[in-house]
Amino acid sequence: MPPCPTATDLLLLSYHSDIMIQCPRGTRDFLPDEMERRRYYENVLRNVAKIFNFRETATPIFEETELFVMRSGPNILNEIYAFKDKGGRDIALRPEMTAPAIRMFVNEMSNEPRPLKLFYFGQCFRYERPQSGRYREFFQFGAELIGNANAETDAEVIALAASMIKALGLKEYKIRIGHIGILRNMITSAGVPSDKLPEVLQKLDKKMYDDARTLLERMNISGDAADNIFKITETVGGKEVLDLVSNEEAAYLRELAGVLEAMGVDDIEIDLGVVRGLDYYTGIVFEAEAPSLGAEKQICGGGSYSLSELFGGEKVFSTGFAIGFDRILLAMEKEGQKFEGRGVDAYVVPVTDDVRLDASKIVSMLRSEGISADIDIMRRKMAKSMKHASAVNAKYAVIVGRNELNENSVTVRDMGTGDQKMIKLNELVSLLR
Ligand code: HAM
Repeated sequence: MPPCPTATDLLLLSYHSDIMIQCPRGTRDFLPDEMERRRYYENVLRNVAKIFNFRETATPIFEETELFVMRSGPNILNEIYAFKDKGGRDIALRPEMTAPAIRMFVNEMSNEPRPLKLFYFGQCFRYERPQSGRYREFFQFGAELIGNANAETDAEVIALAASMIKALGLKEYKIRIGHIGILRNMITSAGVPSDKLPEVLQKLDKKMYDDARTLLERMNISGDAADNIFKITETVGGKEVLDLVSNEEAAYLRELAGVLEAMGVDDIEIDLGVVRGLDYYTGIVFEAEAPSLGAEKQICGGGSYSLSELFGGEKVFSTGFAIGFDRILLAMEKEGQKFEGRGVDAYVVPVTDDVRLDASKIVSMLRSEGISADIDIMRRKMAKSMKHASAVNAKYAVIVGRNELNENSVTVRDMGTGDQKMIKLNELVSLLR
């Protein structure tokens, strides 16, 4: 094995190498225009969460691996970034933020008054095969509510998700709500042993009916019972589809649909086939999809679940969701939604070198008044400076010339219309505002 390069070797390599380092597979750089757009929409979501009285939290980007293994079983290790740190601890980059949020609740918030309404935004990491809309580093905007097991609690979370999607201005999407208990009961009462349930649910989640049938046949489940299960999986529509099932779970979904209707959430469908990949859900489950995205069309997923007791806390009712931030932005883009960056309010252009210090004073004065302002620091000639003002999307150019300064004035050009006029320095702030 060749010896490990020393720090000096690496430094020299970085000076002399022809290799251009790219960002790792499945990750992206966000340039300023894109970042401005992302921050804008992130804040749209943040505002909606606050309007619903959810409060922001943040947990570490890495956690003890055990947290995710406890939640999803050891197979999760194939799908996440897990490693030993220098102290020999098993650490994983978070693949999602529900388990961390509930760990935080158990550690630090279990005595707080309920309901607890929390939201978060941040990056998650999954060792996936990257493609459009599927990344190894991606961002989720999510919410978790810890409260009482009732329809109003679930409705609060679904209404929040629906309002967020609406607030972003996405037009083509579907929100489908189901109850994991309906399929679970049906499958177990058909005779499937409970330890085989996840395997069957997984096939149904992926709509792999031939595989599911073979699996059920192996467990001696009759063809008729299998057909009934498949029929329920394909049942989608308004509240009336719940008439097909008469059990506690269907009654709960009916009540939930009633609360959502009262809250004005009218863009939902009942879909008894929503299974959700993660296996910790215990009650309602819901997903939102944007058909324009093709294969990776799921933009939001959630449901009610039971995790707290697994992490050493009391058993509590919790329900939540996460929006795939990257995917929903992609869907908005596909629908042709344009984002206009703000640009800078004022770009200060010194006409000659002898007024540079005066121009610096003016730019500082504008900034101290809260006006976003920039100045030519490349020592360009005026014409080039004006070109640059246009390129950085300045609303106004503030042209600082000796003659104008002698009269305590500057020339302000509206970069949109091209109109320009000379104004007194003490009127500049109010004009730019
Ligand atoms: P999830 O369905 O695994 O649920 O992820 C939520 C959303 O994150 C997905 O609907 C999708 O939009 C987005 N997403 C997932 N993987 C990727 C990826 N590789 N690249 C881009 N976007 C992705 C959860 O994570 C649960 N914690 C949601 C939840 C909260 N359930 C209850 N509370």
